[in-house]
Amino acid sequence: MKISSFEHYKQVYQQSVSQPEQFWEGVAETFQWRKKWDMVLEWNFKEPDIKWFQGGKLNITENCLDRHLETDGDRPAIIWEPNDPTEDHRVLTYKQLHDKVCQFANALKNNGVQKGDRICIYMPMIPELAIAVLACARIGAVHSVIFGGFSAQSIADRIQDAECKVVITADGGFRGPKDLPLKSVIDDALVQCPSVKRVIVLTRSRTPVSMIKGRDVWWEDEIKKVETQGNPDCPAEEMDAEDMLFILYTSGSTGKPKGVVHTCGGYMVYAGFTFDTAFQYNKGEVYFCTADIGWITGHSYIVYGPLSQGATAVMFEGVPTWPDAGRFWDIVDKYKVNILYTAPTAIRSLMSFGTDLVKSHDLSSLTKLGSVGEPINEEAWHWFDENVGKGNCPIVDTWWQTENGGFMISPIAGVTPLKPGYASLPLPGVQPVLVDENGKEIEGNDVSGNLCIKFPWPGMLRTTYGDHERCRQTYFSTYADMYFTGDGCMRDADGYYRITGRVDDVLNVSGHRIGTAEVENAINMHSSVVESAVVGYPHDIKGQGVYAFVISPDKHENEDLTRKDILMTVSRIIGPIAKPDKIQFVSGLPKTRSGKIMRRILRKIAEGDVSNLGDTSTLLDPGVVDEIKAGAL
Ligand code: PRX
Repeated sequence: MKISSFEHYKQVYQQSVSQPEQFWEGVAETFQWRKKWDMVLEWNFKEPDIKWFQGGKLNITENCLDRHLETDGDRPAIIWEPNDPTEDHRVLTYKQLHDKVCQFANALKNNGVQKGDRICIYMPMIPELAIAVLACARIGAVHSVIFGGFSAQSIADRIQDAECKVVITADGGFRGPKDLPLKSVIDDALVQCPSVKRVIVLTRSRTPVSMIKGRDVWWEDEIKKVETQGNPDCPAEEMDAEDMLFILYTSGSTGKPKGVVHTCGGYMVYAGFTFDTAFQYNKGEVYFCTADIGWITGHSYIVYGPLSQGATAVMFEGVPTWPDAGRFWDIVDKYKVNILYTAPTAIRSLMSFGTDLVKSHDLSSLTKLGSVGEPINEEAWHWFDENVGKGNCPIVDTWWQTENGGFMISPIAGVTPLKPGYASLPLPGVQPVLVDENGKEIEGNDVSGNLCIKFPWPGMLRTTYGDHERCRQTYFSTYADMYFTGDGCMRDADGYYRITGRVDDVLNVSGHRIGTAEVENAINMHSSVVESAVVGYPHDIKGQGVYAFVISPDKHENEDLTRKDILMTVSRIIGPIAKPDKIQFVSGLPKTRSGKIMRRILRKIAEGDVSNLGDTSTLLDPGVVDEIKAGAL
């Protein structure tokens, strides 16, 4: 939606919350439906039961591909930049992407994939990942993309939870100087996954792989079969608005990661609308989102959002610091990128290399910048603004979550007056509220509280796969009739929102969500660990680091060796992204008489703020606190 001024935003916002159904109906009409909906919205936050555009029929890939063919068929849809800058880049026009999606969708069908089947995708950041995602959506199969940094055990947990029938992977992938042995990790995972009948393997790294007879097939061979069948087209499956589109696993404060479920109609409308509105995207602009498709940001803002709007998206296989820390600037220069959407952790990491590499590239094509994943500290905001945006590019600091499907609180580029560190104001149709511990709404400005959303939006999660009660408990039970985000937030005197971070036991490490309980469970798997407690602490680059307090009476004499063993255990159980930055061995943990770990105290010690630990008199053994303080790293 094009918004011409701040006044215009305020008007649209007012109208969107006073008549939300009318508002979203207008937005949905800008998409292509096979059949129009009978009812815009039916909802309650108790069960919860949320239905948008009921009775509507569509296929999201017709909106992302087919509808652009006539006018924009030759426009680049994806520009792919390889990890190794000496390898050739690739450009896929809308027409070419459409053809490849249809081809692979037919290959999936040849392999027995049907509407509703769950398909696990574990691939590097190459165009075939987007093709695989879209091919699933084309035929109504539900994709569950797993980030390439997760371990075999994490993959197995996710495949089992969703009972995936097929896995799509590659022999290996490249990330900076590293080779990722993807197929081999999948083979380890599949030992525990009887539901998987077929593995489709793309050739990328030419790493030797073991192809299991009867189960594993090569992507390229399957495409050849489709070619010899001589029917390149694959008509899109007609989907109900509320049919499942995908599952994406995300961590919470308890238990194993849960499968957030998004549905076809509402998610499409929301991803497309928010992309267009926040970035004020104009056809022809080159847009570069640096996220990985393994996370929600890649789903909504590399694949579905931009493609639904006919945009040109740059997709990058590698990392910002390889072969050197000028890689983003090379890409901006090479493809004349207009919109750069990245994360505070990447900005902080690049800041540490100074400004020479930024200055030696031509970044004059940039007109808009974006940030996502965690609160952006003011220093990083100003560095990004001055050195990358040259003081001329609005920074849209987009606050949202996997469960939201798309941006919730965000400036509108060129419209909303900016404040560094503030996600600013809700997008049209989004109704945030701050509440106190009792769930009472805190009205007025210059206040802080827990961030909730009091009215549905089309991109919200519908359930957590296979366990609706968990969805209710996690998001809808803390406060009556509201969706609880898990974030703390302040609203300043101007009504601007500033997210202050999670208020639950969830860490945000380099923009990745990690549950402390999950890391503790992994650490506790190590044979010499009795108990552990994990908290976050401020980390210069990652935003938050992982600090583990570990009781390990039989550790080796060489503590460092035990630390390494524990790190290896966490890598095996979750993946390298969850490895603690610090491990402190302790003889006990501060617990209340009822056995609850006082994390508040551990958090303060991890933060290095030991002057005021508050009341420790309720602890079972207050002496343990002095010992932990003395041994803090
Ligand atoms: O704490 C908030 C933080 O990231 C959490 C959501 O994580 P995830 O579902 O993995 O999605 C990340 C990408 C959308 C939120 O609860 N967060 C995300 N964006 C921001 C943010 N915190 C502050 N400002 C942001 N712009």
